[in-house]
Amino acid sequence: KKKNIQTSREEIDYGSVNLRKVAVIGCGFVGSASAFALMQSGMFSEMVLIDADHDKAEGEALDISHGTPFARPMKIYAGGYDDIVDASIIVITAGANQKPGETRLDLVKKNIGIFKTIIPEIKKRDCKGILLIVANPVDILTYTAVKLSGFPENRVIGSGTVLDTARLKEALGSHLQVDSRSVHAFIIGEHGDSEIAAWSSANVSGIDLNDFCEMRGHYNHHEAMEKIANDVKNSAYEIIAKKHATYYGIAMSVKRICEAIVRDEKSIMPISSMMHGEYGIEDVALSMPAIVGKNGAQGKVPISLNYDEITKLQESAKALKKVIEDNKP
Ligand code: 2OP
Repeated sequence: KKKNIQTSREEIDYGSVNLRKVAVIGCGFVGSASAFALMQSGMFSEMVLIDADHDKAEGEALDISHGTPFARPMKIYAGGYDDIVDASIIVITAGANQKPGETRLDLVKKNIGIFKTIIPEIKKRDCKGILLIVANPVDILTYTAVKLSGFPENRVIGSGTVLDTARLKEALGSHLQVDSRSVHAFIIGEHGDSEIAAWSSANVSGIDLNDFCEMRGHYNHHEAMEKIANDVKNSAYEIIAKKHATYYGIAMSVKRICEAIVRDEKSIMPISSMMHGEYGIEDVALSMPAIVGKNGAQGKVPISLNYDEITKLQESAKALKKVIEDNKP
């Protein structure tokens, strides 16, 4: 028997936050590409950009604002923490990014340090919006943001494996010559080296993935799936080796998550959020499909996983917990 989806928890007071206002903290490649995607989406009427280098934030705000006549009117400006109090979503991309050869987890010390300055600024002002953590390692930083902010957990979410899941759908879509939006498959767990492709529940518009493969003349399921999952897992490494950063894919993921929140879509997405005993996993943030709407993470969706997938998910959680332990003050 399937368990009910546990729906959460604290409702956001849209009397005190402005649904049409977004803040982006960190204006590096990821922050500015996200801001650019958000401007084009027409979802917001106000966007404040914050960066330790205020000139950089101002430059990006100006440059991006010059696109508004081709999109929709919107106020875009560089600001400080006092400007984010009424933002409905606070996107945090600030932090060092991976250099060629580095893993996401290599960034942990530096970026936890950065979060120790950012999150208290947000907490101090009692911001009521949703924190959308994007900086890496995203699961560790989501956990850190939950602990440092003390905010209700539904209001602190990480972009998690939304991007990896998009990469998986794109790869499967082109492998099977079908619209990637008709592919239903999730990457879950860590956004990083221990992530898991949840093959056992994968399907194309309700047709079992292996069956669809055969309809397209592909029969070596095991090898093909292994290659696709590995390519997805390693695609950030490949991109970073070639262009030294990744930002367009994550920017679209940020836009998509914001859209689900602002439009209260209740979309199911593999965002990173706190685990509380699901599959025996506790006190760590990682990605599982969850309902995303105007109150943030509104309940995890218990997709079917086989024994092997559950074991790998537990190993992924263990790897993340070790990083948390090793970085306790
Ligand atoms: C990505 O997966 C580096 O986390 C970033 O593109």
